[in-house]
Amino acid sequence: MNARITPVSPQLTPAPSQEELGAFWMPFTANRQFKANPRLLARAEGMYYWTPEGRQVLDGVAGLWCVNAGHGRREIADAVARQLTTMEFAPTFQMGHPMAFELANRLAQLAPPGLDRVFFTNSGSESVDTALKIAIAYHRARGAGQRTRFIGREKGYHGVGFGGISVGGIVNNRKIYASSMLPGVDHLPHTLDLGHNAFSRGLPHWGMHLANELERLIALHDASTIAAVIVEPISGSAGVILPPVGYLKRLREICDKHDILLIFDEVITGFGRVGKPFASQVFDVTPDIMTTAKGLTNGAIPMGAVFSQRKIYDAMMQGPENVIELFHGYTYSAHPAACAAALATLDLYEREGLLTRAAAIGSQWEEAIHSLRGIPNVIDVRNFGLIGAVELEPRPGKPGGRAYDVFVECFERGVMVRQTGDVIAMSPPLIIEPAQIAQLMGTLADVIRTTA
Ligand SMILES: Cc1ncc(COP(=O)(O)O)c(C=O)c1O
Repeated sequence: MNARITPVSPQLTPAPSQEELGAFWMPFTANRQFKANPRLLARAEGMYYWTPEGRQVLDGVAGLWCVNAGHGRREIADAVARQLTTMEFAPTFQMGHPMAFELANRLAQLAPPGLDRVFFTNSGSESVDTALKIAIAYHRARGAGQRTRFIGREKGYHGVGFGGISVGGIVNNRKIYASSMLPGVDHLPHTLDLGHNAFSRGLPHWGMHLANELERLIALHDASTIAAVIVEPISGSAGVILPPVGYLKRLREICDKHDILLIFDEVITGFGRVGKPFASQVFDVTPDIMTTAKGLTNGAIPMGAVFSQRKIYDAMMQGPENVIELFHGYTYSAHPAACAAALATLDLYEREGLLTRAAAIGSQWEEAIHSLRGIPNVIDVRNFGLIGAVELEPRPGKPGGRAYDVFVECFERGVMVRQTGDVIAMSPPLIIEPAQIAQLMGTLADVIRTTA
């Protein structure tokens, strides 16, 4: 791997004082616990972060599943700087700017067959809510306005908008908002089953039949009420849950049979994470709508993109031509700086072969992560592309405690992983080298061994 990394800024920002930590209400963070013992990052380059004190930390999670080309990519920073000094903002409501069209075309060429109409957002959550709204609007436009239900999946994560938490299946994200969520949503069972599938290499072989649960939900609600099914091809946030062999194809068949749209949420699987630009290409199952964000700009500028099949866009293009077809959009949809970042990112991905690198290095990744099998308290190891998860035996009465301690100790020893429940998840930048895979897994193995 010969990624040319030129750091954007070599300076380290000093750490805030205890008092200065107060004002920032941190997202998805145990604020009091964190602020008592903060873990801060001040600089990044290539595969590494540095803390404000200058300690080097190997990035095992591409920031938050987004920095696929590695950190400090000068080409992206330069493209953004150029754009900001040329035109920092232009509206895309009833106006346009050339880069937005250029980016949409580039993305359409990269996308699975037919998904060549692209709606821009600023995040994965916005992409998901946009996709849900497009699904309902599409059915209405073709005279099926009664199709308003969605089918999500247990343990699914689709961001934090009200649409996303409604179709999502993570209880902590949902329980407080129970009475405020979208009505009429139902959920497929999740596909995680350690009894049948623990330590599978790649996709598990047991569980395709779980897709047939969709037929049961359709029989319960009637197909004519259902707009779309939404799933992540691979769930990340719930601790890396892989689709059993044949499962996604079966979902596709059932959706086709009943005229229900299939939405793949590729916010984490998009842009090379599993060895092709998108997971749907790896699994050879094409959705009707695909949501993306994260790797689209290498994490440099917030941006998301929703890809729709041409038939969906075309169905909406009716009525008087002076009437807006979809009453939806964000001030920053196709923000010029984000478009510049995305185009520079796509150039990098292409030039360095990063969108297929996970396939090339995937078997080394698989070998390395499965070497953790047999370590006390390791109850499962899961992998696909450059995604990995190690599930730990929960401490009695203290779910998540062991994995949290492992996560903190890994950070102390210079490796950043991610913890969800009792799962340690990993999704490194796609530029990772074998020696860094060894450092990541070696540190994790040592820490698990020494964590009671
Ligand atoms: C599958 C999936 N969908 C949606 C989101 C939400 O993205 P964001 O945090 O950018 O809103 C995430 C974030 O991790 C995700 O993994």
